[in-house]
Amino acid sequence: MEAIILAGGFGTRLRPLTYTRAKSLLPILNKPMIIHLIDSLPSEIDKVILAVNYRKDQIEEYFSKHDCGKEIIINDEKTPLGTGGATKYAEKHITGRFLVLNSDIICSLNLDKMINFHKKNNSAATISLWPVKNVSEFGVVDVQKDGKIISFVEKPKPEDAPSNLINAGAYCLEPLVLDYIKKGRLVSMEKEIFPRIINDTDRFYGFKFQGYWMDIGRISSFLEVNRFLLDLKKLDFCKGVNCIVNGVLKKSTIGDNVFIGSNSDIKETIVFNNVKIGYNVILSNCVIGENSEINNGCKLEYIVVGDNEKIKEKTTLENTIIWTQPKPKDYPDKQIGNAVIN
Ligand code: GDD
Ligand code: MG
Repeated sequence: MEAIILAGGFGTRLRPLTYTRAKSLLPILNKPMIIHLIDSLPSEIDKVILAVNYRKDQIEEYFSKHDCGKEIIINDEKTPLGTGGATKYAEKHITGRFLVLNSDIICSLNLDKMINFHKKNNSAATISLWPVKNVSEFGVVDVQKDGKIISFVEKPKPEDAPSNLINAGAYCLEPLVLDYIKKGRLVSMEKEIFPRIINDTDRFYGFKFQGYWMDIGRISSFLEVNRFLLDLKKLDFCKGVNCIVNGVLKKSTIGDNVFIGSNSDIKETIVFNNVKIGYNVILSNCVIGENSEINNGCKLEYIVVGDNEKIKEKTTLENTIIWTQPKPKDYPDKQIGNAVIN
Protein backbone atom coordinates (compact mmCIF):
# COMPACT_ATOMS: atom_id res chain seq x y z
CA MET A 1 0.00 0.00 0.00
CA GLU A 2 1.24 3.49 -0.83
CA ALA A 3 1.30 6.68 1.22
CA ILE A 4 1.63 10.09 -0.41
CA ILE A 5 3.20 12.67 1.87
CA LEU A 6 2.40 16.25 0.90
CA ALA A 7 5.71 17.91 1.51
CA GLY A 8 5.67 20.80 -0.90
CA GLY A 9 4.62 24.36 -0.37
CA PHE A 10 6.85 27.15 0.86
CA GLY A 11 5.94 27.17 4.55
CA THR A 12 5.54 30.94 4.40
CA ARG A 13 4.25 31.13 7.95
CA LEU A 14 7.59 29.67 9.08
CA ARG A 15 9.80 32.36 7.55
CA PRO A 16 12.75 32.93 7.77
CA LEU A 17 13.48 29.28 8.63
CA THR A 18 11.87 28.22 5.34
CA TYR A 19 13.85 30.75 3.30
CA THR A 20 16.69 28.27 3.49
CA ARG A 21 15.04 24.86 3.90
CA ALA A 22 12.07 22.69 3.02
CA LYS A 23 9.44 22.90 5.74
CA SER A 24 9.32 19.12 6.11
CA LEU A 25 13.01 19.06 7.07
CA LEU A 26 12.54 21.35 10.06
CA PRO A 27 13.93 19.45 13.02
CA ILE A 28 11.70 18.31 15.86
CA LEU A 29 13.83 16.88 18.66
CA ASN A 30 16.68 16.83 16.14
CA LYS A 31 14.81 14.66 13.63
CA PRO A 32 13.20 16.10 10.48
CA MET A 33 9.47 16.55 10.86
CA ILE A 34 8.88 14.20 7.90
CA ILE A 35 10.75 11.35 9.62
CA HIS A 36 8.42 11.55 12.64
CA LEU A 37 5.60 11.01 10.15
CA ILE A 38 7.29 8.16 8.24
CA ASP A 39 8.04 6.43 11.55
CA SER A 40 4.31 6.49 12.37
CA LEU A 41 3.25 4.70 9.17
CA PRO A 42 1.75 1.20 9.46
CA SER A 43 3.89 -1.73 8.29
CA GLU A 44 1.56 -2.38 5.34
CA ILE A 45 2.78 0.89 3.80
CA ASP A 46 5.77 -0.25 1.78
CA LYS A 47 6.06 2.70 -0.59
CA VAL A 48 6.14 6.38 0.34
CA ILE A 49 5.71 9.01 -2.35
CA LEU A 50 7.02 12.38 -1.30
CA ALA A 51 5.15 15.12 -3.16
CA VAL A 52 7.71 17.91 -3.22
CA ASN A 53 8.63 21.07 -5.06
CA TYR A 54 10.35 23.93 -3.18
CA ARG A 55 13.85 22.88 -1.94
CA LYS A 56 13.37 19.32 -3.24
CA ASP A 57 17.15 18.97 -3.61
CA GLN A 58 17.50 19.10 0.16
CA ILE A 59 14.88 16.37 0.54
CA GLU A 60 16.59 14.22 -2.10
CA GLU A 61 19.93 14.70 -0.38
CA TYR A 62 18.50 13.80 3.02
CA PHE A 63 16.93 10.57 1.78
CA SER A 64 20.03 9.61 -0.21
CA LYS A 65 21.92 9.53 3.10
CA HIS A 66 19.24 8.14 5.45
CA ASP A 67 17.44 4.83 5.14
CA CYS A 68 13.98 5.04 6.68
CA GLY A 69 13.05 1.40 6.06
CA LYS A 70 10.55 2.04 3.25
CA GLU A 71 10.84 2.60 -0.48
CA ILE A 72 10.92 6.37 -1.04
CA ILE A 73 9.87 7.96 -4.31
CA ILE A 74 10.52 11.66 -4.72
CA ASN A 75 7.84 13.15 -6.94
CA ASP A 76 8.90 16.61 -7.98
CA GLU A 77 6.12 18.88 -9.25
CA LYS A 78 8.24 21.66 -10.86
CA THR A 79 5.65 24.21 -9.76
CA PRO A 80 3.37 23.67 -6.75
CA LEU A 81 0.12 21.94 -7.74
CA GLY A 82 -1.69 22.30 -4.44
CA THR A 83 -2.82 19.44 -2.21
CA GLY A 84 -5.11 17.89 -4.87
CA GLY A 85 -2.83 18.50 -7.85
CA ALA A 86 0.13 16.94 -6.02
CA THR A 87 -1.96 13.87 -5.17
CA LYS A 88 -3.03 13.48 -8.80
CA TYR A 89 0.58 13.86 -9.91
CA ALA A 90 1.47 10.80 -7.79
CA GLU A 91 -1.23 8.69 -9.50
CA LYS A 92 1.24 6.67 -11.57
CA HIS A 93 2.63 5.16 -8.35
CA ILE A 94 -0.75 4.22 -6.85
CA THR A 95 -1.89 0.59 -7.06
CA GLY A 96 -5.09 0.62 -4.97
CA ARG A 97 -6.38 2.12 -1.72
CA PHE A 98 -3.82 4.67 -0.48
CA LEU A 99 -3.02 7.22 2.21
CA VAL A 100 -2.42 10.97 1.81
CA LEU A 101 -0.76 12.80 4.68
CA ASN A 102 0.00 16.44 5.39
CA SER A 103 3.63 16.58 6.44
CA ASP A 104 3.36 19.37 9.03
CA ILE A 105 1.52 17.45 11.73
CA ILE A 106 2.66 15.65 14.85
CA CYS A 107 -0.06 13.48 16.37
CA SER A 108 -0.99 10.22 18.05
CA LEU A 109 -3.26 8.99 15.23
CA ASN A 110 -3.13 5.22 14.75
CA LEU A 111 -3.29 4.86 10.96
CA ASP A 112 -3.95 1.09 11.17
CA LYS A 113 -7.14 1.81 13.11
CA MET A 114 -8.15 4.49 10.62
CA ILE A 115 -7.67 2.12 7.67
CA ASN A 116 -9.82 -0.53 9.43
CA PHE A 117 -12.54 2.07 10.09
CA HIS A 118 -12.41 3.02 6.39
CA LYS A 119 -12.78 -0.63 5.30
CA LYS A 120 -15.61 -1.31 7.76
CA ASN A 121 -17.62 1.62 6.36
CA ASN A 122 -16.88 0.78 2.73
CA SER A 123 -15.85 4.39 2.52
CA ALA A 124 -14.70 6.26 -0.60
CA ALA A 125 -12.64 8.61 1.55
CA THR A 126 -11.90 8.73 5.27
CA ILE A 127 -10.21 11.68 6.95
CA SER A 128 -8.84 12.02 10.46
CA LEU A 129 -10.69 14.48 12.73
CA TRP A 130 -9.62 16.49 15.74
CA PRO A 131 -11.54 19.01 17.88
CA VAL A 132 -10.17 22.55 18.22
CA LYS A 133 -11.45 25.80 19.74
CA ASN A 134 -10.63 28.10 16.84
CA VAL A 135 -11.49 26.42 13.56
CA SER A 136 -10.86 29.29 11.16
CA GLU A 137 -7.43 28.11 9.93
CA PHE A 138 -8.60 24.58 9.19
CA GLY A 139 -10.98 22.43 7.19
CA VAL A 140 -14.16 21.91 9.23
CA VAL A 141 -16.72 19.08 8.94
CA ASP A 142 -20.31 18.37 9.72
CA VAL A 143 -20.31 14.76 10.85
CA GLN A 144 -23.05 12.34 11.88
CA LYS A 145 -22.87 10.02 14.91
CA ASP A 146 -21.86 7.06 12.71
CA GLY A 147 -18.88 9.05 11.36
CA LYS A 148 -20.39 9.96 8.00
CA ILE A 149 -19.39 13.47 6.92
CA ILE A 150 -22.14 15.48 5.27
CA SER A 151 -20.24 18.69 4.63
CA PHE A 152 -16.65 19.99 4.52
CA VAL A 153 -15.70 23.68 4.52
CA GLU A 154 -12.08 24.82 4.20
CA LYS A 155 -11.13 27.75 6.44
CA PRO A 156 -14.65 28.99 7.15
CA LYS A 157 -15.56 32.19 8.93
CA PRO A 158 -16.29 31.20 12.55
CA GLU A 159 -20.02 31.84 12.05
CA ASP A 160 -20.06 29.49 9.03
CA ALA A 161 -18.23 26.59 10.71
CA PRO A 162 -20.49 23.53 10.93
CA SER A 163 -18.74 22.15 14.08
CA ASN A 164 -15.49 22.30 16.05
CA LEU A 165 -14.13 19.16 14.37
CA ILE A 166 -11.34 19.83 11.91
CA ASN A 167 -9.58 17.92 9.17
CA ALA A 168 -6.53 16.59 11.00
CA GLY A 169 -4.58 16.07 7.75
CA ALA A 170 -4.51 12.27 7.18
CA TYR A 171 -6.66 10.62 4.50
CA CYS A 172 -7.37 7.05 3.44
CA LEU A 173 -8.66 7.19 -0.13
CA GLU A 174 -10.03 4.85 -2.76
CA PRO A 175 -8.54 5.36 -6.25
CA LEU A 176 -11.87 6.77 -7.52
CA VAL A 177 -10.98 10.03 -5.74
CA LEU A 178 -8.19 10.54 -8.29
CA ASP A 179 -10.76 10.66 -11.10
CA TYR A 180 -12.10 13.90 -9.61
CA ILE A 181 -8.79 15.76 -9.92
CA LYS A 182 -7.73 17.38 -13.19
CA LYS A 183 -4.15 16.62 -14.25
CA GLY A 184 -1.40 19.24 -14.17
CA ARG A 185 -3.52 21.93 -12.47
CA LEU A 186 -3.33 23.75 -9.16
CA VAL A 187 -6.08 21.94 -7.26
CA SER A 188 -7.02 22.12 -3.58
CA MET A 189 -8.15 18.76 -2.27
CA GLU A 190 -9.94 20.46 0.57
CA LYS A 191 -11.74 23.20 -1.33
CA GLU A 192 -12.51 21.50 -4.62
CA ILE A 193 -12.41 17.72 -4.25
CA PHE A 194 -13.73 16.77 -0.80
CA PRO A 195 -17.08 18.60 -1.19
CA ARG A 196 -17.65 16.79 -4.49
CA ILE A 197 -16.80 13.35 -3.08
CA ILE A 198 -19.29 13.95 -0.24
CA ASN A 199 -21.95 15.00 -2.67
CA ASP A 200 -21.43 12.27 -5.27
CA THR A 201 -20.60 9.19 -3.19
CA ASP A 202 -22.23 9.72 0.21
CA ARG A 203 -19.35 7.55 1.48
CA PHE A 204 -17.08 10.15 3.07
CA TYR A 205 -16.20 9.37 6.70
CA GLY A 206 -14.37 11.01 9.58
CA PHE A 207 -12.21 9.15 12.09
CA LYS A 208 -11.82 10.71 15.55
CA PHE A 209 -8.93 9.68 17.77
CA GLN A 210 -7.56 10.30 21.28
CA GLY A 211 -4.21 11.62 22.45
CA TYR A 212 -2.61 14.65 20.89
CA TRP A 213 -2.57 16.57 17.62
CA MET A 214 -0.46 19.56 16.74
CA ASP A 215 0.23 21.23 13.43
CA ILE A 216 3.47 23.03 12.77
CA GLY A 217 2.08 25.87 10.73
CA ARG A 218 3.73 28.73 12.58
CA ILE A 219 6.80 29.47 14.66
CA SER A 220 4.70 29.43 17.85
CA SER A 221 3.42 25.93 17.11
CA PHE A 222 6.94 24.78 16.14
CA LEU A 223 8.12 25.82 19.63
CA GLU A 224 5.05 24.33 21.27
CA VAL A 225 5.57 20.92 19.63
CA ASN A 226 9.17 20.89 20.85
CA ARG A 227 8.11 21.60 24.45
CA PHE A 228 5.24 19.13 24.25
CA LEU A 229 7.37 16.24 22.97
CA LEU A 230 10.10 16.89 25.56
CA ASP A 231 7.41 16.70 28.26
CA LEU A 232 5.87 13.58 26.71
CA LYS A 233 9.26 11.88 26.70
CA LYS A 234 9.98 13.22 30.22
CA LEU A 235 13.11 14.99 28.97
CA ASP A 236 14.37 18.37 30.13
CA PHE A 237 16.37 18.84 26.93
CA CYS A 238 17.45 17.12 23.73
CA LYS A 239 21.04 17.49 22.56
CA GLY A 240 22.81 16.58 19.31
CA VAL A 241 26.40 15.32 18.94
CA ASN A 242 29.61 17.32 19.45
CA CYS A 243 28.04 19.92 21.72
CA ILE A 244 29.77 21.84 24.49
CA VAL A 245 27.25 23.15 26.99
CA ASN A 246 28.55 25.32 29.81
CA GLY A 247 25.22 27.03 30.45
CA VAL A 248 21.83 25.60 31.38
CA LEU A 249 19.24 24.06 29.03
CA LYS A 250 15.60 24.00 30.11
CA LYS A 251 12.92 22.43 27.88
CA SER A 252 15.13 23.13 24.89
CA THR A 253 16.56 21.23 21.93
CA ILE A 254 20.01 21.89 20.51
CA GLY A 255 21.37 20.35 17.29
CA ASP A 256 24.88 19.07 16.47
CA ASN A 257 28.06 21.10 17.01
CA VAL A 258 26.50 23.67 19.31
CA PHE A 259 28.61 25.64 21.78
CA ILE A 260 26.99 27.36 24.75
CA GLY A 261 29.12 29.60 26.98
CA SER A 262 29.05 29.76 30.76
CA ASN A 263 26.25 31.47 32.66
CA SER A 264 23.94 31.22 29.68
CA ASP A 265 20.34 30.24 30.21
CA ILE A 266 18.48 28.58 27.31
CA LYS A 267 14.81 28.11 27.99
CA GLU A 268 12.04 26.66 25.76
CA THR A 269 14.21 27.26 22.72
CA ILE A 270 15.27 25.35 19.59
CA VAL A 271 18.85 25.73 18.41
CA PHE A 272 19.80 24.27 15.02
CA ASN A 273 23.20 22.76 14.06
CA ASN A 274 26.54 24.62 14.18
CA VAL A 275 25.48 27.47 16.44
CA LYS A 276 27.72 29.39 18.82
CA ILE A 277 26.13 31.01 21.85
CA GLY A 278 28.42 33.13 24.01
CA TYR A 279 28.41 33.60 27.82
CA ASN A 280 25.78 35.41 29.90
CA VAL A 281 23.21 34.88 27.16
CA ILE A 282 19.51 34.51 27.96
CA LEU A 283 17.29 32.89 25.34
CA SER A 284 13.64 32.26 25.99
CA ASN A 285 11.17 30.92 23.39
CA CYS A 286 13.61 31.45 20.52
CA VAL A 287 14.56 29.53 17.39
CA ILE A 288 18.19 29.95 16.35
CA GLY A 289 18.97 28.97 12.74
CA GLU A 290 21.97 27.01 11.49
CA ASN A 291 25.49 28.52 11.56
CA SER A 292 24.29 31.51 13.57
CA GLU A 293 26.07 33.29 16.41
CA ILE A 294 24.55 34.83 19.50
CA ASN A 295 27.25 36.83 21.20
CA ASN A 296 27.96 37.45 24.90
CA GLY A 297 25.35 39.11 27.07
CA CYS A 298 22.44 38.94 24.61
CA LYS A 299 18.93 38.69 25.96
CA LEU A 300 16.42 37.40 23.40
CA GLU A 301 12.79 36.50 23.99
CA TYR A 302 10.37 35.22 21.35
CA ILE A 303 12.97 35.75 18.63
CA VAL A 304 13.56 33.77 15.43
CA VAL A 305 17.08 34.08 14.09
CA GLY A 306 17.44 32.85 10.50
CA ASP A 307 20.40 30.77 9.30
CA ASN A 308 23.85 32.41 9.10
CA GLU A 309 22.98 35.46 11.20
CA LYS A 310 25.16 37.12 13.86
CA ILE A 311 23.68 38.90 16.85
CA LYS A 312 26.01 41.47 18.40
CA GLU A 313 27.08 41.43 22.06
CA LYS A 314 24.55 42.65 24.63
CA THR A 315 21.65 42.87 22.19
CA THR A 316 18.27 42.85 23.91
CA LEU A 317 15.32 42.00 21.70
CA GLU A 318 11.78 40.77 22.06
CA ASN A 319 9.24 39.36 19.67
CA THR A 320 10.86 39.76 16.27
CA ILE A 321 12.47 37.95 13.34
CA ILE A 322 16.13 38.42 12.47
CA TRP A 323 16.88 38.08 8.77
CA THR A 324 19.39 40.49 7.26
CA GLN A 325 20.02 38.66 3.97
CA PRO A 326 18.10 39.06 0.71
CA LYS A 327 14.92 37.02 0.43
CA PRO A 328 15.62 34.00 -1.84
CA LYS A 329 14.59 34.73 -5.44
CA ASP A 330 12.50 31.56 -5.71
CA TYR A 331 10.41 32.45 -2.64
CA PRO A 332 6.94 33.95 -3.13
CA ASP A 333 5.99 37.41 -1.86
CA LYS A 334 2.78 36.10 -0.41
CA GLN A 335 1.31 32.77 0.44
CA ILE A 336 0.03 30.52 -2.28
CA GLY A 337 -1.62 27.13 -2.36
CA ASN A 338 -3.66 26.08 0.58
CA ALA A 339 -2.59 28.52 3.21
CA VAL A 340 -4.33 31.70 4.33
CA ILE A 341 -2.54 35.03 4.14
CA ASN A 342 -1.59 36.33 7.56
N1 GDD B 1 3.43 18.74 -2.95
C1 GDD B 1 2.77 19.80 -2.50
N2 GDD B 1 2.40 20.76 -3.41
N3 GDD B 1 2.47 19.90 -1.20
C2 GDD B 1 1.79 20.99 -0.78
C3 GDD B 1 1.40 22.02 -1.64
C4 GDD B 1 1.73 21.90 -3.04
O1 GDD B 1 1.45 22.75 -3.87
N4 GDD B 1 0.74 22.97 -0.93
C5 GDD B 1 0.74 22.54 0.35
N5 GDD B 1 1.37 21.35 0.45
C6 GDD B 1 1.52 20.51 1.63
C7 GDD B 1 2.07 21.25 2.84
O2 GDD B 1 3.47 21.11 2.93
C8 GDD B 1 1.37 20.55 4.00
O3 GDD B 1 2.05 19.39 4.40
C9 GDD B 1 0.03 20.11 3.40
O4 GDD B 1 0.22 20.09 1.98
C10 GDD B 1 -1.14 21.06 3.75
O5 GDD B 1 -0.83 22.37 3.30
P1 GDD B 1 -0.78 23.61 4.28
O6 GDD B 1 -0.39 24.79 3.47
O7 GDD B 1 0.03 23.29 5.49
O8 GDD B 1 -2.30 23.73 4.63
P2 GDD B 1 -3.00 24.30 5.94
O9 GDD B 1 -2.21 23.99 7.15
O10 GDD B 1 -3.35 25.72 5.71
O11 GDD B 1 -4.37 23.44 5.98
C11 GDD B 1 -4.35 22.03 5.82
O12 GDD B 1 -4.04 21.38 7.04
C12 GDD B 1 -5.02 21.55 8.12
C13 GDD B 1 -4.52 20.77 9.30
O13 GDD B 1 -3.31 21.25 9.72
C14 GDD B 1 -5.74 21.59 5.30
O14 GDD B 1 -5.63 20.22 4.95
C15 GDD B 1 -6.82 21.79 6.38
O15 GDD B 1 -8.05 21.28 5.92
C16 GDD B 1 -6.41 21.07 7.66
O16 GDD B 1 -7.39 21.30 8.69
MG1 MG C 1 -0.41 23.22 7.53
